[in-house]
Amino acid sequence: MTYRIAIACDHGGVELKSVVKAFLADRHIEVIDLGTNDTVSVDYTDYAHALAEFVLANANTLGILICGTGIGMSLAANRHSGIRAALCTDTYMAQKAREHNDANVLCLGGRVTGPGLAEHIVDTFVKTEFLGGRHLRRINQLDAAKQ
Ligand code: RB5
Repeated sequence: MTYRIAIACDHGGVELKSVVKAFLADRHIEVIDLGTNDTVSVDYTDYAHALAEFVLANANTLGILICGTGIGMSLAANRHSGIRAALCTDTYMAQKAREHNDANVLCLGGRVTGPGLAEHIVDTFVKTEFLGGRHLRRINQLDAAKQ
């Protein structure tokens, strides 16, 4: 399946967001940029919530969130039922996040992961499909604690 990508970051992720956007554009993947676009300090929560709502409202859309570590973005995005945000620091994690967790948001740390590795992580994330089966049962249990 070809996905379009919604992407957002805070000031700690601006530089890496530019790298990721260029990488996706080279591959003719549609990108919706939800900001931020400069290094003025902002709250990662605002961007994580906006992106989560966008992904939930639009079919065939995956999200990418970047803050300094990727941690704050993943915490905030995962507060949304239906969002499965995975902080990945290598390609194995990105592959399994899609295959096993059906992750619909990839989180990256702009101060953690270098541009070359980030490109490989993004490439893996967008190319890998959910395996379903026993993993679907587990996905369906993720929101159980909120009921
Ligand atoms: C901002 O300084 C930093 O806290 C943020 O980018 C992120 O790393 C939070 O998890």
